[in-house]
Order: sequence, then C-alpha cells, then structure tokens
Amino acid sequence: YAESGIDAWLRYARLPASATKGHLNYFPNRIVVLNASKNGPLASASSELHKGIKGILGLDLDVSSSVKSCSAQKTIVVSTLETYKSSCGKLSPKVNLKEDGYWLNTKGNSVQIIGQNERGALYGAFQYLSLLGQGDFSDVEYASNPSAPVRWANQWDNLNAANAAHGSIERGYGGASIFFENGLIKEDLSRVPLYGRLLASVGLNGIVINNVNADANLLNETNLQGVKRIADLFRPWGVNVGISLNFASPQVLGDLTTFDPLDSTVIKWWTDKTDRIYQLVPDFAGYLVKANSEGQPGPLTYNRTLSEGANLFAKAIEPHGGIVVFRAFVYDQLNETDWKADRANAAVQYFKDLDGQFDDNVLIQIKFGPIDFQVREPASPLFANMPKTPVSIELEVTQEYLGQQCHLVYLPPLWQTILGFDMRYNHRQSYVRDIVSGEVFNHKLGGYAGVVNVGMDDTWIGSHLAMSNFFAFGRLAWNPQADSQDIVEEWTRLTFGLSRDVVAAIVDMSMKSWSAYEGYSGNLGIQTLTDILYTHYGANPASQDNNGWGQWTRADSKTIGMDRTVSNGTGNAGQYPKDVANMFEHTQTTPDDLLLWFHHVPYTFKLHSGKTVIQHFYDAHYTGAATVQKFPATWKSLKGQVDAERYADVLYRLQYQAGHSLVWRDGISEFYRNLSSIPDKLNRVRNH
Ligand code: GCU
Repeated sequence: YAESGIDAWLRYARLPASATKGHLNYFPNRIVVLNASKNGPLASASSELHKGIKGILGLDLDVSSSVKSCSAQKTIVVSTLETYKSSCGKLSPKVNLKEDGYWLNTKGNSVQIIGQNERGALYGAFQYLSLLGQGDFSDVEYASNPSAPVRWANQWDNLNAANAAHGSIERGYGGASIFFENGLIKEDLSRVPLYGRLLASVGLNGIVINNVNADANLLNETNLQGVKRIADLFRPWGVNVGISLNFASPQVLGDLTTFDPLDSTVIKWWTDKTDRIYQLVPDFAGYLVKANSEGQPGPLTYNRTLSEGANLFAKAIEPHGGIVVFRAFVYDQLNETDWKADRANAAVQYFKDLDGQFDDNVLIQIKFGPIDFQVREPASPLFANMPKTPVSIELEVTQEYLGQQCHLVYLPPLWQTILGFDMRYNHRQSYVRDIVSGEVFNHKLGGYAGVVNVGMDDTWIGSHLAMSNFFAFGRLAWNPQADSQDIVEEWTRLTFGLSRDVVAAIVDMSMKSWSAYEGYSGNLGIQTLTDILYTHYGANPASQDNNGWGQWTRADSKTIGMDRTVSNGTGNAGQYPKDVANMFEHTQTTPDDLLLWFHHVPYTFKLHSGKTVIQHFYDAHYTGAATVQKFPATWKSLKGQVDAERYADVLYRLQYQAGHSLVWRDGISEFYRNLSSIPDKLNRVRNH
C-alpha cells in the first residue's frame, strides 16, 4: 500500500537509525492540541502528527488537550494563535500571520506549531512532518504565510463517461473519478479524505470537483446531498468545496424556458439553488464558470455581457460569503486566411473593457498563456489588462499537451517563467506572481488554480514521478519564488527516501525534463506541435494549421511563425504594457524561445544564438531526445534502492519516453525538412 503510491509524499517511512542518531533522546514525548473544533483541521493536525512521528521515528506520543502543558518541556503544542494567546500567553517573538499562515518553532526541546487559523496549524504540522521525514532535526523558527488566499485544485471530472458508468476525467490520466459514477456521487468516497490530506499537506485550501464543461445534473437534489457528503470529507483537511456550473442549468434541469442572466425567474432560480447549497455546505467555496467557450452556454447567447453573467452568480453567492471564479478562457473559432485573426487576442478582447464591471466577489481565472497550456507560451497579456479586477492563474498539473504522464516533464520551471515574468505595468515592476497575489493592483482576492485531475489509480495521477508536479503546484501557490529544484528534492526524499543516489537521479532527470520535452516537441514558441485535433498527444505538426482552432504555425515552404506584431500582424504584442510590447514587437528584442510565437520569419532567420531557425529545430530535437535517452540508464542505476513495484513502473515509462522521443524527433525534423527543403547541416535528418 505504501509502495503503491496512494500515500504519495505522505508515507512517513521510518528513518534509518543513522538519520535519527542523537536526536531521539531529546525528542518531545507528547502532543498538546488546544481547543480543536470537532473534526476540524486542528484535529487532523493532531492525528497526523501522531501518525507521522510514529511512522518516521517509531515514537508513540501521548496526545492531550491540556492547557497546563503550554510551555512544558518536550511538548509539541498545536494551536491557533488566538487560543494560544488566551490560554498560554503571548507568543514571542511577535509574529505576523496572514490567513492560513503558521508559526513553526522547533528551538529547544519543545515545538510550537501555531496557525493563524486551524488550517494554518494543520499546514504547520505538515511542514514539521516534512522536515522530520527528510531527517532534518535542525532548529527552525519562522512564520510562513501563503502568497495568495485562493489556492484551489480544479478537477475536470464528469458525472459519467459517455459509454460507461464510471465518471471519466477530461484530460485525466489517472483512471476514473474518485467522486462520480452513474451520473451520481459515488457511494464509496473513501479516496476523498486521502485526497484532502494530500491537498492540505501542500497548502491547498479549495477544490472544484467537476469538469468546467459542466453537467447541470450536479445541481439536482440527490447530487447536492452528495456534494455535502464530499464537503464533509474534505472539511477536516481545511479544503472547501466548489463546483463548476453549467450556465444553462435553469433550462437544462427542466424548470425554465430561458437562462438569460437578467431574467427575474433565472435570478430566482440561481438564488434558490445557491441558498440550498449553503444549507447543505455552509462553508461552500464558490462557483467556477466556463461560459461561451468551446460550445458551452453563456450570457452572450442573450446578448448579455460576460460580466452580467458572472454577476448573476456573484449576487446569489455574496450573502453567503462565497466567490465566483469566472474563466477567461473564452474564444471563437477563426479563419486562418485572415492574417490578423488571432486566438491569442481573444481573452483581452473579451475582458479588457469589462474591467470594473465585475462584482467584488468575482475572480477572473486566467490560463498562464494566451492559448492553451503549451510547452512554451508568453504570460497571458490579460494579467496586465484588468487592474480593477482580481485575477488568478490557471496552471495545468495534468500533462495534457506535455506527455500525458507517459513522459516525465517536471513543470515548475515552466510555471516560474510565467510567474516570474515582469509585465512592466506603467513601466513599473509587476511580476505575474505579484499580480495574482493581489499585490500589484491592491486586491484582497487572487490566487492559483491547478488542474490536477487525480483519479482512482494507485498513483493518483497516472504516474509516480508526475506527482512531483502536484506537490510543486501547492508549494508554488504558497510561495511562487520557492526554488523548483529544492521542491523536487524535498518531494523525492518524502516519496522515495533519503538515498543520495535516488535523490540525485530524480532531481537531475526532473530538472532536465521540461527543456528536453521542449527540445523534441515544439521549439522557439511554435507551440507543442502535438496533435491538436483529438488527442493532444504525439507529434503532429500538420494538425496545427488549416482549421479554426487558431493554434496555427503558418508554416509554408519558406517561412514559419505567427506574426503577432502591431506593425504587420495580429497586434497581439500590443496587448502587453508598453515596455513588454516593444520587446515582443521586434525580432531583435524577442527572446529566441518565443521568436515564432511573435514573428513570422524565414527558416533561415538567424537567432540570437547564431543558429538559423531550421538548424535550431534539428539540433534541439536531437539534443532533447538524447537527454531522455539517458533516463532509463539513470533509473537503472537505482535498482535495489527503490522498491520493486515503483522501480518497474517508473522504468517502463522512462523507456517508453526514450523511445517516443525518437518518434517525436524524427517526425518533427522530417516534417520541416520536407517542407523547407533545407538539409540538416549535420546530415542527421534524412529520408529513411
Ligand atoms: C483545453 C482542453 C479541454 C478543456 C479546455 C478548457 O482546450 O483540451 O479539454 O475543456 O481546455 O480549459 O476549458
């Protein structure tokens, strides 16, 4: 069970004696939990500490709630700040905790884990257990606060698959839904608290349980009772539940003839529904809405604006304290013969003019790039076009365009290119991470959504190594400046143990993996070059063009790339603030890795690196594939240091990736050699 992956990074494997030597004599012998609410996060903190310390150190600590023990020796005190102050006196030094933040002090022979709220205390407990699990007994004393209040997982679960009873997951690679089957909430929800525990352990505080392409039937009474059962199981982990809405629900569920957001019967319908949800789930997190996108219904059907659509829900949910997360992923099919048509322009075109028209409890959720989770995109310009509206960033943990868990691709380095991008709003430093935290434009709301898409698979997500992306998503939502290598090191120790060889190997492969995948898939900002029509898997550069999806490359026999300049193209570069717009407008100032995102150039165009575009394609494909060719041997060197089950599973996938990278390499290289008739200087690419 522990080896199967269900406990993921929370295995609490026993530390080897060499790692605990000299530490156990001084270790606390009891856990004191103050004023825990029934089945709340503090109670979880207490049971988790007990379980974790037993697993990691083999110590069976006493657990009590006696206030007298506040400052006793050899005690782990777990409490909210408020309770601590009233029961035990001041905390010194004075600490500054934000919502969900915690204070962790392991100095001396007692430990203080003090949360701003119960959830914060739970996060502090997990942090402490992470240190212990890594064999780190050093003295620490610090406060830690989340970068933003909204840190949610999104699940794209369907109530049932088209031809099967079980709930499928859109772009999910880890099996059937843990929530749904037969159009209903499952009877057996035993995976839900286990998922809640994983979410909480990395600081995630909310979850949207169903697909953004939403089934209105989730709102029937039977299913709402089921949502309550799910919320009850997540609550001990401080994870609040939200749902995706189908805009046409008032009509689809049968009662009304319209879903016009300004119609009074529609308003009443949503108000009643929302009231009912809050009767069942008083701490319900909110609604997620995909409207007027990819065939989904929305307010535009009635000539109402997207903000009128969002505010319909915002008003219904406001009295209960919930929020509406409205997705900016709205676009139409386009005609490629129009040189100026550009899907990357859609979000700003739809949303910019609505800035200021959304109710205060609406959060606009923006995919990290302007198109769709590609291997390389610039940050979405919408981040810098809605100063009056709080926004969040949507990241995709599930590897839709990035190898679907059959390729190892560790994503934080990609995410951090976006989070660390400076939008230069009004010529001032304005990193995307500080826009989504609410800091730059001074909003209380803001945050992170990660499309995680775990399923019933024992690995949760479909592959053992891919779980580092889930772990890292939580870590980065908490602290977007955390070092991505540190994160994968921590994850590896907790998941696979302390062996230096194992840690070095997994960290090395992970840190090389995104760049390798970019190497053998799409380079220079041309997008992933995967099949975009159906599977989003495997090499298929031809599928990008000659369709209405707008993920074009505009490749012909002489030239390639999207001209997104203001002077001659789609004008997309001009959607960014001035400094950034100027940079992207010109080939000289556009970084090589985004050249073909912004410019249409000859294959012979010289990059800053000195190579031509076409030679870069060839070289990158060979280098990228060569990198992952080495992964199986790296993994094999760990034989005997990783349990047999995970060893075999990971090896199988890495061997597959090594092989598939050759298919990618040759497929893409051949394609562009044929199209351009320009040979590879090193003569590697030729007809077979
Ligand atoms: C992608 C994905 C879809 C999803 C959509 C969305 O296009 O392939 O499955 O529904 O994004 O985010 O809404």
